[in-house]
Amino acid sequence: MVENVSVGLLGLGTVGSGVVRMVEGHQEELLHRVGCPVYIEKVLVQNLEKERACVIKPELLTSSAEDVVNHPDIDVVIEVIGGIEQAREYILQALNNKKHVITANKDLMALHGAELLSTAEKNGCDLFYEASVAGGIPIIRTLVDGLASDRITKMMGIVNGTTNYILTKMDKQNLTFEEVLKEAQELGYAESDPTSDVEGIDAARKMAILASLGFSMNIHLDDVEVKGISNITSEDLEYARQFGYSMKLIGNARKDGGKVEVSVEPTLLPDTHPLASVQNENNAVYIYGEAVGETMFFGPGAGQLPTATSIVSDLVAVVRNMRLGVNGKSVVAPQFEKQLKQAEEIEGKYFYRLHVKDEAGTFSALTSVFAENQVSLEKLLQKPVDEDGVAEVVLVTHTTTKHQNEQIYQQLRDTGIVKVIKSHYRVEGGA
Ligand code: NDP
Ligand code: HSE
Repeated sequence: MVENVSVGLLGLGTVGSGVVRMVEGHQEELLHRVGCPVYIEKVLVQNLEKERACVIKPELLTSSAEDVVNHPDIDVVIEVIGGIEQAREYILQALNNKKHVITANKDLMALHGAELLSTAEKNGCDLFYEASVAGGIPIIRTLVDGLASDRITKMMGIVNGTTNYILTKMDKQNLTFEEVLKEAQELGYAESDPTSDVEGIDAARKMAILASLGFSMNIHLDDVEVKGISNITSEDLEYARQFGYSMKLIGNARKDGGKVEVSVEPTLLPDTHPLASVQNENNAVYIYGEAVGETMFFGPGAGQLPTATSIVSDLVAVVRNMRLGVNGKSVVAPQFEKQLKQAEEIEGKYFYRLHVKDEAGTFSALTSVFAENQVSLEKLLQKPVDEDGVAEVVLVTHTTTKHQNEQIYQQLRDTGIVKVIKSHYRVEGGA
């Protein structure tokens, strides 16, 4: 039986410091839960002189990854340096040295998860990544264990805290996108380069991970359709409010008859939808299972201690497996071949805000574009704008297919009836 467990940490930034604080501060609980002491042996950093957000003995720090991934006494490596190539290399080295690995790295898992998991299995090692999606919410364990008996058909997630914070503040405080992004960066929610947050890429990585687990298919990042929030304006949010909607960046994963769709896009949710009330930097994931019905999981999607909670829970799972001698046995290969839906098979409602010529016949020409494509309108509003000879038309369609919607978009853009398509979003359910 394993008598004590030695941990090597790659990275001591926001998340790494949280891991040190939790492992040091929860020694009694850890001993009780796993049955043996767990301690930190070595920590990789770039800058040995930097001030840290936790108490750490200087002799534990190293700037050489070899001191961690090749250390003979280290049993578990926790990767929290971020990035892709370097992190992948260190994790592969650690696994090939028969060390169990825990990572918070969604960028890496979304791109190379299959390779890393099979390397872990080959080496009889655990590779856990709970913190990679929705920080402190135990959503991966929910899919892998809690809902393992069910067939999941739908997942909707607010899985990026930065964008949810920006949309909440723009809506409630009438601030511009640029003003709130600056605030989110100062508060430390956004990645160092916030492009991946605001353009939906961070959320797409997380949805690729969730969809792969929930639908038991190998869903790659390239399979996720992505649209970010950088073009959303206060006018869009104002109309959304008038129509009874909240604007959220939604990760949407659905499975019908064996085929799946996965996307991340700004979506108008009816105010009655469970995800509409998720405010600020919080995350939430809504999951529908055929047997269980609707479930929802809410909590902090980032931050030092919430993220460390997930990592240290993974550590507890690894150590329990070590003591039982069952590491590396939990990887389940995808059950199904990937089958993605075509545009004709993806259904949704759509919101348009259009600037049209304010003259006789425009309205009937506009509505006939929808009619010719067999799409009927659920909501419609027209308002004059300051510009001479221009009116603003805002509408929401009834349920149609993505393909029909693409045709309508093209015709509106190309026929000259519409001067500008100011905005265009997906709408979920009925308001
Ligand atoms: P930070 O930038 O705060 O910390 C990164 C740490 O890794 C630093 O200590 C840095 O060293 C070290 N580091 C980076 N690159 C190297 C390298 N090549 N060699 C040696 N050390 C290196 O990142 P976070 O803690 O915020 O994020 C870590 C991971 O966790 C990322 O994958 C992120 O996506 C993920 N994550 C983060 C969340 C959060 O709330 N921050 C939430 C969920 C997941 P030094 O300090 O010396 O510069
Ligand atoms: N930048 C990410 C977010 C951090 O805003 O959600 C957590 O992955």
